[in-house]
Amino acid sequence: MGRIAVVPGSFDPVTLGHLDVISRTAGIFDTVHVVVVHNPDKEALLPIAQRVRLLEESVAEAGVKGDLVIATWSVGLLVDYCTEVGAHVIVKGIRSQVDVAYETPMAIVNRNLAGVETIIMLPDPGHSHVSSSLVRQVAALGGDIAPYVPHAVVDYLAQRAK
Ligand code: PNS
Repeated sequence: MGRIAVVPGSFDPVTLGHLDVISRTAGIFDTVHVVVVHNPDKEALLPIAQRVRLLEESVAEAGVKGDLVIATWSVGLLVDYCTEVGAHVIVKGIRSQVDVAYETPMAIVNRNLAGVETIIMLPDPGHSHVSSSLVRQVAALGGDIAPYVPHAVVDYLAQRAK
Protein backbone atom coordinates (compact mmCIF):
# COMPACT_ATOMS: atom_id res chain seq x y z
CA MET A 1 0.00 0.00 0.00
CA GLY A 2 2.99 2.34 0.56
CA ARG A 3 3.28 5.42 2.70
CA ILE A 4 0.11 7.48 2.72
CA ALA A 5 -0.30 11.10 3.88
CA VAL A 6 -3.39 13.21 4.30
CA VAL A 7 -3.23 16.94 3.57
CA PRO A 8 -6.46 18.41 4.96
CA GLY A 9 -7.81 21.94 4.74
CA SER A 10 -10.71 24.16 3.84
CA PHE A 11 -9.12 25.03 0.47
CA ASP A 12 -11.60 27.90 0.12
CA PRO A 13 -10.03 28.54 -2.33
CA VAL A 14 -6.80 26.58 -2.93
CA THR A 15 -3.79 28.94 -2.91
CA LEU A 16 -0.25 28.71 -4.29
CA GLY A 17 0.87 28.01 -0.70
CA HIS A 18 -1.42 24.95 -0.55
CA LEU A 19 -0.11 23.73 -3.91
CA ASP A 20 3.45 24.07 -2.64
CA VAL A 21 2.66 21.94 0.43
CA ILE A 22 0.79 19.33 -1.67
CA SER A 23 3.63 19.09 -4.15
CA ARG A 24 6.32 18.75 -1.43
CA THR A 25 4.26 16.11 0.35
CA ALA A 26 3.81 14.18 -2.91
CA GLY A 27 7.60 14.17 -3.21
CA ILE A 28 7.92 12.27 0.08
CA PHE A 29 4.89 9.96 0.30
CA ASP A 30 3.67 7.30 -2.14
CA THR A 31 0.05 8.46 -2.00
CA VAL A 32 -1.32 11.83 -0.89
CA HIS A 33 -4.97 12.36 -0.03
CA VAL A 34 -5.88 16.04 -0.28
CA VAL A 35 -9.02 16.27 1.81
CA VAL A 36 -11.45 19.18 1.67
CA VAL A 37 -12.99 19.57 5.11
CA HIS A 38 -15.77 21.97 6.06
CA ASN A 39 -14.45 24.25 8.82
CA PRO A 40 -17.46 25.53 10.79
CA ASP A 41 -15.31 28.33 12.26
CA LYS A 42 -14.98 29.99 8.85
CA GLU A 43 -17.61 31.57 6.61
CA ALA A 44 -17.41 29.71 3.31
CA LEU A 45 -16.96 31.33 -0.09
CA LEU A 46 -17.15 28.25 -2.33
CA PRO A 47 -19.25 25.09 -2.15
CA ILE A 48 -17.19 22.00 -1.28
CA ALA A 49 -17.69 20.43 -4.74
CA GLN A 50 -16.28 23.56 -6.39
CA ARG A 51 -13.23 23.54 -4.09
CA VAL A 52 -12.59 19.95 -5.18
CA ARG A 53 -12.90 20.89 -8.87
CA LEU A 54 -10.48 23.80 -8.45
CA LEU A 55 -8.01 21.58 -6.58
CA GLU A 56 -8.17 19.01 -9.37
CA GLU A 57 -7.61 21.65 -12.04
CA SER A 58 -4.84 23.32 -10.02
CA VAL A 59 -2.76 20.20 -9.34
CA ALA A 60 -3.08 19.29 -13.03
CA GLU A 61 -2.07 22.80 -14.09
CA ALA A 62 0.90 22.77 -11.68
CA GLY A 63 1.96 19.33 -12.91
CA VAL A 64 2.12 17.88 -9.39
CA LYS A 65 3.58 14.41 -9.77
CA GLY A 66 2.62 11.34 -7.78
CA ASP A 67 -0.43 9.43 -6.68
CA LEU A 68 -2.90 12.12 -5.60
CA VAL A 69 -6.45 11.58 -4.36
CA ILE A 70 -8.68 14.64 -3.97
CA ALA A 71 -11.48 13.86 -1.54
CA THR A 72 -13.95 15.41 0.89
CA TRP A 73 -14.77 14.52 4.47
CA SER A 74 -17.76 15.76 6.40
CA VAL A 75 -19.09 12.84 8.42
CA GLY A 76 -16.83 12.85 11.46
CA LEU A 77 -13.31 13.19 12.72
CA LEU A 78 -10.49 13.73 10.26
CA VAL A 79 -8.65 10.81 11.87
CA ASP A 80 -11.58 8.55 10.90
CA TYR A 81 -10.82 9.41 7.28
CA CYS A 82 -7.13 8.67 7.92
CA THR A 83 -7.97 5.28 9.44
CA GLU A 84 -10.34 4.48 6.57
CA VAL A 85 -7.65 5.04 3.94
CA GLY A 86 -4.76 3.59 6.00
CA ALA A 87 -2.93 6.90 6.55
CA HIS A 88 -0.87 7.36 9.71
CA VAL A 89 0.31 10.86 8.90
CA ILE A 90 -1.35 14.25 8.46
CA VAL A 91 0.76 16.95 6.78
CA LYS A 92 0.06 20.59 7.57
CA GLY A 93 1.72 23.64 6.04
CA ILE A 94 2.65 26.38 8.47
CA ARG A 95 3.56 29.95 7.72
CA SER A 96 4.29 31.34 11.18
CA GLN A 97 4.27 30.75 14.92
CA VAL A 98 0.56 31.62 14.85
CA ASP A 99 -0.03 28.56 12.66
CA VAL A 100 2.11 26.41 14.98
CA ALA A 101 -0.03 27.50 17.93
CA TYR A 102 -3.22 26.68 15.97
CA GLU A 103 -1.98 23.28 14.77
CA THR A 104 -0.33 21.99 17.96
CA PRO A 105 -3.46 21.11 19.99
CA MET A 106 -5.12 19.51 16.94
CA ALA A 107 -2.00 17.44 16.31
CA ILE A 108 -1.89 16.16 19.89
CA VAL A 109 -5.62 15.37 19.91
CA ASN A 110 -5.39 13.54 16.57
CA ARG A 111 -2.49 11.46 17.93
CA ASN A 112 -4.42 10.67 21.12
CA LEU A 113 -7.57 9.80 19.18
CA ALA A 114 -6.10 7.45 16.63
CA GLY A 115 -2.30 7.41 16.73
CA VAL A 116 -2.16 9.63 13.65
CA GLU A 117 0.98 11.80 13.65
CA THR A 118 1.11 15.34 12.25
CA ILE A 119 4.11 16.49 10.24
CA ILE A 120 4.67 20.19 9.77
CA MET A 121 5.70 21.24 6.26
CA LEU A 122 7.40 24.58 5.64
CA PRO A 123 6.32 26.06 2.33
CA ASP A 124 8.42 28.36 0.21
CA PRO A 125 8.80 31.61 2.23
CA GLY A 126 7.47 33.42 -0.83
CA HIS A 127 4.04 32.07 0.12
CA SER A 128 4.25 32.87 3.82
CA HIS A 129 1.81 35.79 3.62
CA VAL A 130 -0.78 33.93 1.51
CA SER A 131 -3.97 32.61 3.07
CA SER A 132 -7.38 31.67 1.71
CA SER A 133 -9.05 34.20 4.01
CA LEU A 134 -6.87 36.99 2.60
CA VAL A 135 -7.66 35.85 -0.94
CA ARG A 136 -11.40 35.81 -0.14
CA GLN A 137 -11.17 39.37 1.19
CA VAL A 138 -9.13 40.74 -1.74
CA ALA A 139 -11.45 39.01 -4.23
CA ALA A 140 -14.59 40.34 -2.51
CA LEU A 141 -13.24 43.88 -2.71
CA GLY A 142 -12.31 43.58 -6.39
CA GLY A 143 -8.53 43.31 -6.00
CA ASP A 144 -6.09 41.20 -8.03
CA ILE A 145 -5.67 37.71 -6.55
CA ALA A 146 -3.51 36.36 -9.41
CA PRO A 147 -0.24 36.47 -7.40
CA TYR A 148 -1.69 34.19 -4.73
CA VAL A 149 -3.79 31.50 -6.41
CA PRO A 150 -3.61 29.11 -9.39
CA HIS A 151 -5.02 30.30 -12.75
CA ALA A 152 -8.04 28.02 -12.36
CA VAL A 153 -9.11 29.98 -9.27
CA VAL A 154 -8.51 33.38 -10.91
CA ASP A 155 -10.62 32.33 -13.92
CA TYR A 156 -13.39 30.79 -11.83
CA LEU A 157 -13.78 33.79 -9.51
CA ALA A 158 -13.61 36.25 -12.41
CA GLN A 159 -16.38 34.30 -14.17
CA ARG A 160 -18.44 34.19 -10.97
CA ALA A 161 -18.17 37.96 -10.47
CA LYS A 162 -19.73 38.68 -13.91
O1 PNS B 1 -7.69 25.19 6.03
P1 PNS B 1 -8.12 25.16 7.47
O2 PNS B 1 -9.48 25.82 7.64
O3 PNS B 1 -7.10 25.76 8.39
O4 PNS B 1 -8.28 23.61 7.86
C1 PNS B 1 -8.59 23.21 9.18
C2 PNS B 1 -9.05 21.75 9.20
C3 PNS B 1 -10.33 21.60 8.40
C4 PNS B 1 -8.00 20.87 8.61
C5 PNS B 1 -9.29 21.40 10.70
O5 PNS B 1 -10.29 22.22 11.20
C6 PNS B 1 -9.62 19.94 10.90
O6 PNS B 1 -8.73 19.11 10.95
N1 PNS B 1 -10.93 19.60 11.02
C7 PNS B 1 -11.36 18.22 11.17
C8 PNS B 1 -12.30 18.02 12.36
C9 PNS B 1 -11.68 17.17 13.44
O7 PNS B 1 -11.31 16.04 13.22
N2 PNS B 1 -11.58 17.78 14.65
C10 PNS B 1 -11.12 17.08 15.87
C11 PNS B 1 -9.63 16.90 16.05
S1 PNS B 1 -8.61 18.29 15.78
